[in-house]
Amino acid sequence: MLKVPGEVDQILVAKTYEAGQEHVFDFWEELSEAERAGLLDQLRSVDFQLLGRLAKSIDIEPPPPGAAQGIPTEPVSGDRRRELEARGWEALRQGKVACVVVAGGQGTRLGWDHPKGTFEVSPVQNKSLFQLFAEQVAATSRRAGAPLPWYVLTSQQNRAETEAYFERHERFGLPAEQVTFLVQREVPTVDARGKLLMTGKGELAMNPDGHGGTLRALREARAIQDLLARGVETLFYFQVDNPLCRIADPAFIGAHLEAGAEASTKVVRKVDPSEKIGLVAERGGRAAVIEYSELSRAEQERRDESGQLVFRAGNTAIHAWSLAFFQRLIDAGYELPYHIARKAVPQVGPDGTVETPAEPNAIKFETFIFDLLPEAETHVAFEVERAEEFEPLKNKSGPYSPETVRRAQRDRAAAWLAAAGVKTDPAVTYEVSPLTALDAAELAERLPELDLTPRDGALAL
Ligand code: UTP
Repeated sequence: MLKVPGEVDQILVAKTYEAGQEHVFDFWEELSEAERAGLLDQLRSVDFQLLGRLAKSIDIEPPPPGAAQGIPTEPVSGDRRRELEARGWEALRQGKVACVVVAGGQGTRLGWDHPKGTFEVSPVQNKSLFQLFAEQVAATSRRAGAPLPWYVLTSQQNRAETEAYFERHERFGLPAEQVTFLVQREVPTVDARGKLLMTGKGELAMNPDGHGGTLRALREARAIQDLLARGVETLFYFQVDNPLCRIADPAFIGAHLEAGAEASTKVVRKVDPSEKIGLVAERGGRAAVIEYSELSRAEQERRDESGQLVFRAGNTAIHAWSLAFFQRLIDAGYELPYHIARKAVPQVGPDGTVETPAEPNAIKFETFIFDLLPEAETHVAFEVERAEEFEPLKNKSGPYSPETVRRAQRDRAAAWLAAAGVKTDPAVTYEVSPLTALDAAELAERLPELDLTPRDGALAL
């Protein structure tokens, strides 16, 4: 066995051997002191028991899930919507709502070498996703008359850069005590045989533990107890990639509270049976998110009497969670299951060179927040308009890319103006800052004080 100075490190090395992972020391002789210390540091963060369990799970096919039923959602409008909004605003006013954005992902498809939230995406002013969200948090707090606490989930990899970005921009005007950074844990990436994958001679490949890591990160930061003690009851959850997301949407919060739900999800209507979108459905009387691939072609295409798809509740990954529900799960020792994703990641070969193979060489273990849905006693699926609320930034080009996300913001701003009676011009790029209006109704109210003259083909309000 490799000899290292110090008893504590020697025990760590022994644990690594015991777990059958001693190949991580193959290049030990070539490493500098700092590199050796770095590798031991990484090994210290590995939960070998968990790793053993996960490695065993690689070749085990999960049991086929039971049959799912579609949920016949309809959007809420008119008086009913206003009633729900009033209820949501009341909760916001009483300081009973907090929000969390999950921003710890690696954003590989977008290929942006920085935290995704720093990507500049608004159509006229080029505001970043983080800035747009910060402005919404500020505007919602202002309108509610109570600060909306905002948690930002980061990963070990992007935490420092994310915090520095917020610091540099003085949190876009939000007071420091309103923004809390959380860090999710990392899990080791392994090869097909469950061996720790090395991305360098002295470096383990690690990946953040998926958006399900939110629950653990909140727990470790004692955030749930803290919020409950401050009288906060509901946590609004959203992803960093969707600039159209209406943060802490009062209508959605209102629907969640009125139903006494433990969990709620915003859904958008799936109209094309072949669209590859996750779906909110029911399984054994509980809500569940199912992948489109879990449905047969016939199920994907099945329609109800009204001619609409039976499975039409597209998952937006926007949720409301009851914090008492989170606390109940934590008290019961609940752990989210890990899922396997096969990916191609850079790997050091026997000759010490690092290469990224064309085919997946790696297994990433990740947890998904939506695995919590079946744990909820009551769940609300709340349908919203896609053009109003959902256009996530996922890819470099094509669907869900900077181009579509900018266009969606522009089109929504134009639709709000048109609804307020303004004649819009298809050639003009519009942008409405959340600080000006959070929705069409607010924009209509503020119209008299706004200068509506486009300049150089653009109008930013
Ligand atoms: P995606 O599944 O779209 O992944 O994350 P991604 O990392 O952004 O992009 P790809 O797949 O590498 O291209 C959905 C949301 O969950 C967050 C992301 O930041 C995004 O807001 N997320 C994902 C985390 O916070 N942590 C994770 O470990 C994974």
